[in-house]
Amino acid sequence: MMETSRPTVYIETYGCQMNVSDSELMLGKLAASGYTPVDVPDGADVILVNTCAIRDHAEQRVIGRLGELKRHMTATSIMGVTGCMAQRLGPQLLEKAKHVSLVVGPDGYRTLPAMVDSARNGQRTIATTFDMEEHYEDFTPRRFDKVKAWIPVQRGCDYRCTYCIVPTTRGSERSRQLPDVVREVEGVVSEGMTEVVLLGQTVNSYNDGTHDFADLLRAVGAVRGIRRVRYTSPHPNDFSDRVIRAMAEVPTVCEHVHLPMQSGSTKTLKRMLRRYTREGYAECVQKLRAAIPGLSITTDIIVGFPGETDADFEETLSAVRELGFADAFMFIFSPRDGTPATRMPEELTVPQDVAAERMARLVETVRAGARALNLTQLGQRREVLVEREAKRGEAMVLARSRDFRSVLVPGDATLLGQYLTVELTGTTGSTFTGQIVSERAALPLAG
Ligand code: 5AD
Ligand code: SF4
Repeated sequence: MMETSRPTVYIETYGCQMNVSDSELMLGKLAASGYTPVDVPDGADVILVNTCAIRDHAEQRVIGRLGELKRHMTATSIMGVTGCMAQRLGPQLLEKAKHVSLVVGPDGYRTLPAMVDSARNGQRTIATTFDMEEHYEDFTPRRFDKVKAWIPVQRGCDYRCTYCIVPTTRGSERSRQLPDVVREVEGVVSEGMTEVVLLGQTVNSYNDGTHDFADLLRAVGAVRGIRRVRYTSPHPNDFSDRVIRAMAEVPTVCEHVHLPMQSGSTKTLKRMLRRYTREGYAECVQKLRAAIPGLSITTDIIVGFPGETDADFEETLSAVRELGFADAFMFIFSPRDGTPATRMPEELTVPQDVAAERMARLVETVRAGARALNLTQLGQRREVLVEREAKRGEAMVLARSRDFRSVLVPGDATLLGQYLTVELTGTTGSTFTGQIVSERAALPLAG
């Protein structure tokens, strides 16, 4: 085949928003080095899979996907694996998947263009060294989302939760300089975006040597043209009074916090090395609620952690009932090689069927709580930002309230990025339907 103008690159992303943000940085860097990003893998010169290692299931999916993507490769295409799985498995990945010629961990993207070039010249390359200084400050991300911008403010993690692989895959915690973050936020506003999400593994422990997370919220929140500031994910122990005050006082900071609880049992939390008790977590929730009226709280919960008894699990259920989460991500514990949880006594292992049954009960409990909460909100009004067209059903868009409720409203792509006032008219339990009530909805809408 004839060599055409610019080589193309396709990237597929798994895992958390930090990975999405990293993919945006990688694409930006490659675009600046002469590559053209494409939306489909078919025939792309470079196929990258940006991976997650958090649970075995996430890794298995990627392994399967690497096999599937192979059939989109041409004789000259190359495939690379980046992200947390690349960092964790390194050379094993080259062994496992012979068609992969590039393995790059989260701190190795600076030299990606050169590594891609050498892979295209037939060399297999691995880069998995940590770099405590690396923030990709001079990269220009190529953003996927046109409505809200992911802004990484911290990389790595200094906590050592015993179940978690992240300290191994992303190294030690480091924060970007506040002025650099503010400059990036000003940039996205000038591109027409009005919502930013600040990202970090324990984002509220942000500290650039001079400024803490409270300073960061105030600085970002004051950028001209910003209407919504969110962040994910905080750790309960890093909610200092200063941070809570900043969250309460800065009008652009949204009334939502995703606050991973992991378990409602102090005993289990201790084994997880979460460094707080059930009561400590509840106290954090109360402080946040007292300071921020209308705050909605979502969480992460793990079931089946080694040593979790029926009584421990009941404590998780009761915490869910007491704390009024608007939603939760729930996971069955997945042992990760090299983490302390894998070295706990064998007899502490929770059998899969027990874990699965607990999971089902937890899902039911979370759903029931969310449904009850949502029903109390019908008839209320919310300002929503239209994020995207709804997947199913015609002429509906998905919009988001400041308190992170999804609201389906009638409308089309012309509404993307717009703010509307809606009345919440119905709920499926997790999502709302809404009617537009604001004047600004001067567009072809039904009703
Ligand atoms: N098994 C199950 N869930 C996990 N998480 C992190 N590590 C594991 C693991 N080994 C969950 C936690 C975390 C979320 C991102 O993933 O709940 O908050
Ligand atoms: Fe997955 Fe954690 Fe890596 Fe994000 S940081 S991609 S959740 S392993």
